[in-house]
Amino acid sequence: MCFYSIPVLLLPTNCTLSTFFRSTASMISEKYIYQKLSLCFFVFIAVLNIDLSAQDGKILFNSKCASCHNVFKNTTGPALGGFQERENGKWTDTKELLKWVKNPPAYMEHDAYTKGLKAQFGSIMQSFSDITEPELVAIASYVNTTFQKGPGGGTTTATSSEPNEETDGRNAILFGIISLIMAVIAMILMQVNSNLKKLSDDVEGVLRPEPTPFYKNKIYISVVAIAFFVVGGFYVTKGAIGFGRQKEYQPHQPIFYSHKVHAGINQINCLYCHGNAMESKHATIPSTNVCMNCHKAITSYEKGPKLFDEEGKEINGTAEIAKLHKYARFDPKNPAAWDPSKAQPISWVKIHNLPDHVYFNHSQHIKAGNVQCQTCHGEITKMDEVFQFSELSMSWCINCHRDTKVNFYDEEKGTGNKFYSIYEKFHNDLKSGKMDSVTVKDIGGLECQKCHY
Ligand code: HEC
Ligand code: HEC
Ligand code: HEC
Ligand code: HEC
Ligand code: HEC
Ligand code: HEC
Repeated sequence: MCFYSIPVLLLPTNCTLSTFFRSTASMISEKYIYQKLSLCFFVFIAVLNIDLSAQDGKILFNSKCASCHNVFKNTTGPALGGFQERENGKWTDTKELLKWVKNPPAYMEHDAYTKGLKAQFGSIMQSFSDITEPELVAIASYVNTTFQKGPGGGTTTATSSEPNEETDGRNAILFGIISLIMAVIAMILMQVNSNLKKLSDDVEGVLRPEPTPFYKNKIYISVVAIAFFVVGGFYVTKGAIGFGRQKEYQPHQPIFYSHKVHAGINQINCLYCHGNAMESKHATIPSTNVCMNCHKAITSYEKGPKLFDEEGKEINGTAEIAKLHKYARFDPKNPAAWDPSKAQPISWVKIHNLPDHVYFNHSQHIKAGNVQCQTCHGEITKMDEVFQFSELSMSWCINCHRDTKVNFYDEEKGTGNKFYSIYEKFHNDLKSGKMDSVTVKDIGGLECQKCHY
């Protein structure tokens, strides 16, 4: 997206742009070109702004509403797609919508329709007392455009807080096409202008030097060169930063060990195997003997569903357990002879890898921060083979630190985390109403040295 904000950055520097054209375009009426070009810029920026507000709506929707609402499906609350057509278009009146979202229980008291919805959905909608009308307009416009695109065109699932890459990609292409069209229009206008000028000069009998063809024209050459550097520079930098990142990385493991079978179907707690995540920096992978706690007795795979690997090949669970037994030097026919101290480690391939200059600590996030494993690692309980769910980029860390509220201890209710009691000033500000929440950013989560050695 950042590439497309470049024109916006250029706008305040109009004067440099105009001097640039003035110095290079002395032959063509620079005022005319400048007018046309700035018109193009304004149209371009208007288009951008429309989409930016839809983007804002998306962010707002994902952060405030998506936990209960999906555009297409009923979840905790009703599907929001087409909501403004319901009840004779009651929600098209944003004042009415604002009243509802600000305080559903109060609204419901004198409104049979929403009372009926509550009877249907069981739970009552959360109040958003500080939401504003423009924010709701942005959310509504995001919901409506997503609904028009249809499922798959920008589906927001109730669990995903990740921005939807598919639509982002599509927007990028759309912006690309728009910019291209604008550039072509600008060039045509410049050509037309120079031809007209030539005609009028001919009529008036003014002698002019032969116009230079466009491929020799300094403006065209400079514009193309600048565009090339900007676009090229953007992608080279992006590529260089992304070097070594491996979202979706799913290596082949020595044993086909399924998290779905263990943590999903058999509901083994993550901490049974990754218990270190509570106390230390690393969650760590369990040793062979931890597996053997159960697999001394479980020597075949019978009860679970059929397993398939990424290529769709069927996996023989019993044979995979036999591989485990081989590592453990365990003979199922003679369990009594097993010596646990002879077990060999299994050479699991590490999936998540932060660069060495980054400090990340599991216990800080899980014990103090109370973040769920799934927030960072995805729905592990549904994965047969684990893959890297999050990008592990710096902006991923930072964005979450900006948005996540710290669970401060509430003295009146007795809820929250006492770990934060050292932040006395924030406590006082919370009490006096100066702040309504404290984010990780406020307690220093954006300071470079907290994450970098
Ligand atoms: C905690 C869950 C929850 C959150 C968060 C939530 N809603 Fe709701 N919403 C509901 C439920 C449940 C209903 C159905 C009415 C009821 O039971 O209160 C509902 C109903 C609605 C309706 C009426 C739908 C219809 O069919 O007419 C609208 C509009 C709405 N919500 C908008 C929003 C917006 C906008 C947000 C985000 C700012 C939001 N909701 C956040 C749970 C939620
Ligand atoms: C019975 C033991 C066991 C349980 C329970 C378990 N895991 Fe694992 N986990 C493993 C093993 C073994 C590996 C290494 C093999 C692999 O990557 O599949 C692993 C790998 C992982 C990885 C990838 C680590 C890397 O290499 O970067 C993540 C993330 C993970 N587990 C998260 C979880 C979460 C979240 C849960 C709970 C929902 C869970 N695990 C439950 C044994 C377990
Ligand atoms: C705030 C995000 C976050 C949360 C929450 C989180 N992890 Fe991780 N996890 C990471 C990152 C980042 C790495 C890569 C660490 C590295 O390379 O040093 C990682 C690595 C791992 C690994 C690979 C071994 C290691 O420790 O480096 C396992 C296993 C794992 N996580 C399991 C879990 C389990 C189980 C939970 C829940 C109890 C959990 N994680 C919660 C971000 C998270
Ligand atoms: C708390 C008990 C428990 C632990 C610990 C445990 N398993 Fe399992 N394992 C099971 C159960 C239950 C099944 C499913 C058996 C069935 O459905 O018939 C299973 C099935 C399997 C299978 C066959 C299905 C598949 O996932 O491919 C393999 C292989 C396996 N386990 C490997 C391991 C490894 C490796 C470890 C150590 C990282 C481990 N297990 C730890 C209970 C456990
Ligand atoms: C899902 C949200 C989330 C993500 C993603 C996340 N964090 Fe955090 N982080 C938190 C929360 C919540 C806390 C507050 C815990 C506490 O108070 O110590 C925190 C605290 C921290 C702290 C301590 C800050 C302080 O001032 O004490 C560090 C360091 C940190 N995170 C590093 C990272 C790094 C590095 C990454 C990326 C690899 C990352 N975090 C990704 C939620 C997140
Ligand atoms: C919340 C944790 C966090 C904070 C705070 C943070 N960084 Fe980072 N930083 C990371 C992570 C994670 C990476 C690795 C990204 C990757 O592998 O692509 C990184 C990578 C970098 C890189 C390498 C280039 C890149 O993007 O990969 C530089 C340079 C950097 N950080 C500088 C800074 C500076 C300067 C600050 C303070 C303004 C800062 N960081 C604050 C987590 C953090």
